[in-house]
Amino acid sequence: MTTTASTTTTMAAITQHGYGGIEQLRIDRMPAPTPGPDQVLVRVHAVSPDSGTIHIMAADPKLVRLAFGWSRPRQPVIGLSFAGEVVAVGDRVKGVAVGDRVAGSAPAAFAEYVVAAPQKIARIPDAVSMTDAATLAISGTTALQAVRDAARVQAGQSVLVIGAGGGVGAFLVQLAVAAGARVTGVASAAKADLVRSLGAVDVIDYRTTPGPEGWGRFDVIIDTADGRALHVLRRALTERGTLVIVGADNAGGPLLRGADRQLRAVLQNPWVRHRLAAVVNRENGDDVAVLLDMVARGALRAPIDAVAPLEEALPLVERLQRQQVAGKAVIRLVAEAGSSR
Ligand SMILES: NC(=O)c1ccc[n+]([C@@H]2O[C@H](COP(=O)([O-])OP(=O)(O)OC[C@H]3O[C@@H](n4cnc5c(N)ncnc54)[C@H](OP(=O)(O)O)[C@@H]3O)[C@@H](O)[C@H]2O)c1
Repeated sequence: MTTTASTTTTMAAITQHGYGGIEQLRIDRMPAPTPGPDQVLVRVHAVSPDSGTIHIMAADPKLVRLAFGWSRPRQPVIGLSFAGEVVAVGDRVKGVAVGDRVAGSAPAAFAEYVVAAPQKIARIPDAVSMTDAATLAISGTTALQAVRDAARVQAGQSVLVIGAGGGVGAFLVQLAVAAGARVTGVASAAKADLVRSLGAVDVIDYRTTPGPEGWGRFDVIIDTADGRALHVLRRALTERGTLVIVGADNAGGPLLRGADRQLRAVLQNPWVRHRLAAVVNRENGDDVAVLLDMVARGALRAPIDAVAPLEEALPLVERLQRQQVAGKAVIRLVAEAGSSR
């Protein structure tokens, strides 16, 4: 294994000790992980919480308990999306070197050190900050896979993004605009300015206009938040339109939540005139690299609402759980040289 002297045997990490709210989280010290021959060790500079981290924290949907541990998660360190510097490289890893700045996803990311698979990380261009890079791996890649692969958005199409002020939604709006679409966002009034600033031509406040009647008709609808039945949302599609289900915290009942409508979309698709599709994030470094390149070129903005140091991380996670974050929040474990971010 290639290692630098900067690795340490213990580290700070955000850990989870039961299911619920942030009262279940602590900032603990624990042994730093050791990479296997096919892994790299990253000194984490910045992380970004996403709704998946919240689902695991709250055991909502209940399937979380089956997958991660019945009374508490078997693996206590939370989080997925990170940016940092490679400090050790396993013997069998090719193409990654100590000192590389990388972003990507890995379990147990909210810690000073994380072990990552090389296939799930990408090198950060010089022009991109660690703070911006940390937002891309889960929320950004989900949006990329929704716009590019599931919706196959084309120039000139009309696209409705539901949940446009959220972590995934803020990327969806920008990526659909970049594909040449006219984008309308559905969001609360508090997030309307953000959604417009990302390129949406119109923003619908779902609290005053619950829709879908009155929203208009769209070639593509991408839902991250509405949660209503597919046939209800399809009323806002054009004749041959496409409905893409990313998720929704209020959908599907306590066992399955968002997965319920994702399954229904796949099962119903052959039998309806509209195209129905679901997104299940395929974590991979290639898609992170696509987004990093867009950020470096100024074609995509990391939609950051708030940045906090590790000591102030838990209130930020709580804000995300309450859906009060517009776009993304970032936790800094190492201050960025020459920048407040
Ligand atoms: N399939 C996958 O692989 C995948 C990957 C990532 C996320 N997801 C799922 O996608 C969903 C969104 O994730 P996220 O990370 O973007 O969550 P988030 O950051 O919490 O954003 C959700 C947004 O929806 C808004 N919202 C709530 N109710 C709404 C409604 N009825 N209509 C329109 N907007 C509404 C919320 O704020 P306002 O109420 O203030 O507008 C919030 O901004 C979650 O259910 C998550 O599990 C799925």
